[in-house]
Amino acid sequence: MSDYTVRKLTADEWDEVNFPRPKENEFDRVVERAISRRGFLGGVLAFGSGAAAMSAGLLKPEKAQAQQATRFAFTPIPAATDSVVHVPEGYSWQRLVSWGDPLFSGIDAFDSAIGGAAADSDKVFGENTDGMELFVIGGKQVIAVNHEYTNRKTNLPQTADGVPRDGQDVLKLQNLQGIAVFEIVENDTGWTVVLDSPFNRRITQNTPMQFSGPATGHDLLKTAADADGVESLGTFNNCGSGKTPWGTYLTCEENFNGYFGATEEPELTEQIADGYKRYGISTEGWGYDYHKWDPRFDTSKNPNEPHRAGWIVEIDPSNPKSTPVKRTALGRFKHENAETVLAPDGRVVVYMGDDERGEFLYKFVSKDAYAPGADTSTLLDEGQLYVARFHDDMTGEWVSLTPDTTGMSEAEIAIFSRIAASKVGATTMDRPEWVAVNPISVEAYCALTNNSRRGVKPNAGGDWTPVAGPNPREANKYGQIVRWRPSGDDHASETFEWDLYVMAGNPTVHEGDYAGSANINEGNLFNSPDGMAIDSTGLIWIQTDGDDSDEGDFAGNGNNQMLAGDPVTGRIERFLTGPKGAEVTGLCWSADRRTMFVGVQHPDAPFPDGEGRLPRSSIIAIKRDDNLPVG
Ligand code: FEO
Ligand code: CA
Ligand code: CA
Repeated sequence: MSDYTVRKLTADEWDEVNFPRPKENEFDRVVERAISRRGFLGGVLAFGSGAAAMSAGLLKPEKAQAQQATRFAFTPIPAATDSVVHVPEGYSWQRLVSWGDPLFSGIDAFDSAIGGAAADSDKVFGENTDGMELFVIGGKQVIAVNHEYTNRKTNLPQTADGVPRDGQDVLKLQNLQGIAVFEIVENDTGWTVVLDSPFNRRITQNTPMQFSGPATGHDLLKTAADADGVESLGTFNNCGSGKTPWGTYLTCEENFNGYFGATEEPELTEQIADGYKRYGISTEGWGYDYHKWDPRFDTSKNPNEPHRAGWIVEIDPSNPKSTPVKRTALGRFKHENAETVLAPDGRVVVYMGDDERGEFLYKFVSKDAYAPGADTSTLLDEGQLYVARFHDDMTGEWVSLTPDTTGMSEAEIAIFSRIAASKVGATTMDRPEWVAVNPISVEAYCALTNNSRRGVKPNAGGDWTPVAGPNPREANKYGQIVRWRPSGDDHASETFEWDLYVMAGNPTVHEGDYAGSANINEGNLFNSPDGMAIDSTGLIWIQTDGDDSDEGDFAGNGNNQMLAGDPVTGRIERFLTGPKGAEVTGLCWSADRRTMFVGVQHPDAPFPDGEGRLPRSSIIAIKRDDNLPVG
């Protein structure tokens, strides 16, 4: 970095010196066609320069340069294919908690032979750790974390193939998902979970919840168990997370469709059938088999039950007795995360991806402004839901989803947001995963993980998926990260400019569009960006959930990993490699930022307990050996 600033190279020149590229190739031509005005490689760096200029308001130029010089406070590590976690020299990691670890005393320690006791399954750290946030409550540090889904063969090791044998197996799976809230403390031996803390809580797929916002009480939410359509049981496939300025946790229901099935052909209205088709609800489900043991999940008996999932749920981590609230104004789709930021006038902006091939990127803007100490109970109920439309000239707009623009009622827009967004011609995206807002520059990033159907097939609503705009590669195997800057430096604005921060690829295997953008090189190969967070210094942490075969198109990528990216220069370096089989997902920091907590989801054995033991999803704590902050 210092070379770049001292020599006053342009960012393009710096990149060319450090990561020389072949002369013009098909990739350049594809880009040229896709982006007429400035070409997105120029755009990446031109936009980065703009970001530097913007941050000059917060940081004097010389300070910004000094920060750049220390941006990568680590020596990048090589790709790995083994079954442990690697971090750079000068850093260390320890395990904080793993699937099956008790949150309360009196619970048996994890038993690998049975995959944890079924009777304790709602009192232990659940399976498949994912999005997480840390809260400081009354001086205590409390983590809220998602348990996205289960690995049935691992969680039910007594079964031959992970198929539940009875209602007790189903209940165990339901209990191992949802959310865990627990206090942590750092002592001489490192970080540990505080057993029996008054904050400790498990929320499962059976925890009572309330609906709020425009869909509340709508006929499509009414079931035999709740004739008023105002309550719901449980939360499903909790993927990414968010944190509000008023200290609540947002958990995001993603692949909820997989939990439902039918014991006989359901009789559906046309509207419900259209919704099932768009959201992928089938008679078979995804193998959980809940519907065979629990009629709530049998769509032939409860056709509205799937409408009660696919939401963002707000949870108060300071009050373990509080009832989680499903905020229907934020729309119903396969929610990835909920990145929350305040507009200059105090309105709350929530950015949200819908992670499915060819689905959309959304945002919600509250009607009222947030004021510290004021009532926040309706801020996420009243406001406007928008969907993104990207143009090839590198501008874009947020299109409001209203009865006027969609011909649907407000409740229908909430319940069938995808269908509403199709009606306004939203841009089909390459699977929007996490959105991250830069805290020191008015810009946001979204990981577009990959999309095998780009330019090949329409989405489930029949919207075509053109090779264009921020999705410029057919049958996109590697993914990219799109970035936008809202007009007027206001995240509530209805227009923006965008560019691509990075196109993942493999220049050791391909020339052309699959080589990736100029900031991809042999030393930082990755695919399928997914989790993302930007730290207090503006460094982008990128987590991957991709092909870890280390072969063919993915040779040299190794296991899933976490990298750090400089938004100004575009430079990206590898910080962590996960164990074989795992996805690296979920990231938060301790209050003093001297510890970074990272999630390791669905590793293969022997991580972390060794040979002959079941693999366990785990949160790890990473520190610098000199105990300086890590973000
Ligand atoms: Fe649960 Fe889209 O990741
Ligand atoms: Ca994800
Ligand atoms: Ca993913």
